[in-house]
Amino acid sequence: MSQAHNPKQVAGYAAADLIQDGTTVGLGTGSTVWFTLVRLADRIAQEGLRVRGVPTSEDTHAKATKLGIPLATLDEVEAIDLTIDGADEIDGEFRMIKGGGGALLREKVVASISRREAIVVGPDKVVERLGTTFKLPVEVVPFARAVVSRAVKELGAEPLLRMAADGAVFRTDNGNEILDCHFPEGIADPEALELALDAVPGVVESGLFLGLAQVCVIGHPDGRCEVREK
Ligand code: A5P
Repeated sequence: MSQAHNPKQVAGYAAADLIQDGTTVGLGTGSTVWFTLVRLADRIAQEGLRVRGVPTSEDTHAKATKLGIPLATLDEVEAIDLTIDGADEIDGEFRMIKGGGGALLREKVVASISRREAIVVGPDKVVERLGTTFKLPVEVVPFARAVVSRAVKELGAEPLLRMAADGAVFRTDNGNEILDCHFPEGIADPEALELALDAVPGVVESGLFLGLAQVCVIGHPDGRCEVREK
């Protein structure tokens, strides 16, 4: 009988093998990317792979530093060859909801200067329609929280202020707050919603990632790894 595998590990490890010598790599955030970091550190040690990583969060910065992955900041880097990141939902057109870990803003900035973005997920993250299994995170300036809450309600969502484990209001790496927005019917038109959210003063960024990924690496519990390309 085949042993059950961790889909996150299958995808995370496989994506690390896409990294080429001498390149700049965007390092996403989350529990799936963790396996990419581990495998990348391994390749650096075993193969002498030369890379510089650009982390998308303080969390990834700390983990990559501990693993000995050389890092660079956006001041030192104009373009990124390949970014490997996770997702909370991804549809057939590689449109995504991200930000479950609160790193959406930095993840989107890094994605925006990446020549290629590979997304690592388990099969549970693949959806027909965005917003059906996960709330859409919207990063807001604390001052504007009430204004943005009213605006997203008008767009059909039920916003919930994200709290941290200690009971305090969750703060992103950028000092902002997150409204997790539930769309009862899912998100019918992600492009229109992104435009509408971007137009609300006080919204810093939404967790809608559209047209940013070219590769989707799906790990399966039976150990298979599926690589879909756009
Ligand atoms: C971080 O804010 C997110 O965008 C993550 O990339 C996303 O939540 C996926 O995380 P996991 O790999 O932990 O599921």
